[in-house]
Amino acid sequence: VNPHGRALPATDDADGARSWRELVNPRWARVLRLLDCDRTWTRGEGVWLEDDHGRRVLDAVGGYGAATVGHNHPRLVQALHEALDAGAPGMVHFGVPPLAGALARRLLELAPPSLHRVYFTNSGTEGIELAIKLARAFTGRPALLSCDHAFHGFTTGALALTGHDPYRERFGDLLASRRVPFGDLDSLERALAPRDVAAFVVEPVQGKGVKLPPPGYLAEAQRLCRRAGTLLVVDEVQTGFGRCGSMFATVADGADEPDVMVVSKALSGGLIPVGAVLARDRVWNATFSSIDRAMVHSSTFHQSPLAMSAALAVLEVVREEQLVERSARLGASLRLQLEALRQHHRSLGDVRGKGLMVAIDLVPPRPLRGRLESSLWPQSFVMTMLDEGGVLAQVVNQRSATVKFTPPLVIEPAEVDRIVRAVDQALGRIDGGALGTSLSALGRMARNLLRRSPAGAATAPREGAAGSRPVTPAAAPPSVR
Ligand SMILES: Cc1ncc(COP(=O)(O)O)c(C=O)c1O
Repeated sequence: VNPHGRALPATDDADGARSWRELVNPRWARVLRLLDCDRTWTRGEGVWLEDDHGRRVLDAVGGYGAATVGHNHPRLVQALHEALDAGAPGMVHFGVPPLAGALARRLLELAPPSLHRVYFTNSGTEGIELAIKLARAFTGRPALLSCDHAFHGFTTGALALTGHDPYRERFGDLLASRRVPFGDLDSLERALAPRDVAAFVVEPVQGKGVKLPPPGYLAEAQRLCRRAGTLLVVDEVQTGFGRCGSMFATVADGADEPDVMVVSKALSGGLIPVGAVLARDRVWNATFSSIDRAMVHSSTFHQSPLAMSAALAVLEVVREEQLVERSARLGASLRLQLEALRQHHRSLGDVRGKGLMVAIDLVPPRPLRGRLESSLWPQSFVMTMLDEGGVLAQVVNQRSATVKFTPPLVIEPAEVDRIVRAVDQALGRIDGGALGTSLSALGRMARNLLRRSPAGAATAPREGAAGSRPVTPAAAPPSVR
């Protein structure tokens, strides 16, 4: 399926996979085995993935939302080839990079007019770090405010803003920060009242769990922040560039003058890490305030020609293929079709989302509620979707029964239907006998753990070895964004 028909330039795939399991993340390797995802993806085209056994799967995870233009979009691949063929050096910091200038201009054309400066990053979390620094330098205030259940990244500054305690445990004191319930303007107003908050950092739609605020929430949050002298930092890392059926979900909700906007994921085209922080010029100037401070924030790898070429190509594809509109249209169709399944399946709860960021809640039947099996049950659901429906989906975190879909925006209507069929089929399997299905999934997971890996590595845990801890529901299922 690779349009270029080439194999990956791996040394020896089996050997590499074995080394990864052993040397990189043995615990995650065990989780993958448990979930039947212990495979190597060798090819990707559009919404399709192919594994080392030639099995084709529709990718409804889409690189946690990064593969907006689909895997290996020909336009992106061509842009990267051209960038390499041009022979320009990669990381010379003493010079003026035209591709970065072109991308900055393009981003500012798309962004709200309150934003005038661009700094390029290599990830979303790195963008949040810079946003924190900009806000503290500009306001001279220490405190940060974010929302319960927010996700802003794993580096320690971004982690301080992330509203999931398990991610913060064992890492000691983080930056001073407070949290308010997402969507609750009264709480926000109270939290801002002491006028000590540098920034309110918020996602327009919370990626974890796909939580939507009441309409107009962000517009009002912007007003409250302005009144309190707090910067509004919008985290569009996951939602930006069409994911939610608008170019930026924040602007669509009426917050049209943010002080800082952080973007990433989609810009990468799913191939080259890239992100950006867009800011008001006076906010910017408070950090980069003099010649002495011109490099007070920087990174070795940012704004490389490959990253800039990828992002420019992605923005072209988003425009030419009208992916923003497509996301709105096909996202609505996906939600409508999923809602219709509720007539036939009592295990289907809420269906929600914006554009092609969509989630469904699974309802555990009474015998499973609060039991060990209930947290494995959603995992058995996505395993069934993968095995029988040929669709890769994700459970949003280990303590939830929410299944999330963020397929590439280039998805075709027939492929949307395929996701719906896979959900229908998997719901059908659990409706009648959720307890039985859950127990059989438990058995299958146990077998997965005990079987030998495809590369022949023994997978039965060794005493004291990494990965030897029994996989409990809390440790096992993928914790994803
Ligand atoms: C809303 C949001 N902010 C920040 C991040 C962190 O981005 P990255 O994984 O590139 O560090 C993510 C990642 O999922 C995200 O969804």
